[in-house]
Amino acid sequence: MLGPRHLFILTGAGISAESGLATFRGAGGLWEGHRVETVASPEGFTADPDLVHRFYNERRRQLHAVSPNPTHRAIARLQREFRGEVTLVTQNVDDLHERGGSPNLIHLHGELLKARCVFCRRIRDWSGDLDTATRCGNCGGNLRPHIVWFGEMPLRLEEVGEALSQCDLFASIGTSGQVYPAAGFVDLAHRAGARCLEFNLEVTPTNPLFHESIVGPAGETVPAWVEDLVSCQDRPET
Ligand code: OAD
Repeated sequence: MLGPRHLFILTGAGISAESGLATFRGAGGLWEGHRVETVASPEGFTADPDLVHRFYNERRRQLHAVSPNPTHRAIARLQREFRGEVTLVTQNVDDLHERGGSPNLIHLHGELLKARCVFCRRIRDWSGDLDTATRCGNCGGNLRPHIVWFGEMPLRLEEVGEALSQCDLFASIGTSGQVYPAAGFVDLAHRAGARCLEFNLEVTPTNPLFHESIVGPAGETVPAWVEDLVSCQDRPET
């Protein structure tokens, strides 16, 4: 097979922006209207659980009103049609990759449509509102959003590290590269010898680490890239 064999795709809030979900940073971003430590930290949840529940209830309700966009669908196509391996890792907590047809992915920062017991840690599907009176069916403990907050460990990092060490093409799509460990993935991909591409509306702080930057709306740039990668596979080796 010509070309890359193991793709690693990292996505961020920018990929869901064209579906109508706000990103975190920049004008109109979620962190402009909310203090991160109040709504996205274990300490914030302890101090004011009602406020934290309201914040995530609002996010969960918005999810029901939006749909996947061409970028989600293009990535799902890549996962189906690429003949090598594709590891998809998202920092997003929405379910738009799944609804766009992605057969598998890693949610590094958790999932809005899941709730977790603060005592027994059992995780369950959750599509409605949560409040301080909602109890775990297993142990009766309080439920919290299944979201990785600041100061907590991102999920499935071992699998992510393994995939990064094996990838030969790394693509970062719609993320500002400001939150670790995801912001450091490009560095690990570099060390594995991968070619590193960034898709973003603008130049990001991690931009100098990439071999190539594709600037523009992901909904335009990513489907074109996927088309190219998928059709390249059919060209005969010379
Ligand atoms: P950010 O809001 O930090 O960055 C979104 C990026 O998407 C920016 O660099 C935008 O330029 C870019 N962007 C916006 N619209 C785009 C479009 N149509 N096409 C291409 N790019 C576009 O979001 P993340 O990098 O995902 O964590 O943020 C990382 C983490 O910070 C989140 O997962 C969240 C947040 O705090 C937690 O809550 C734990």
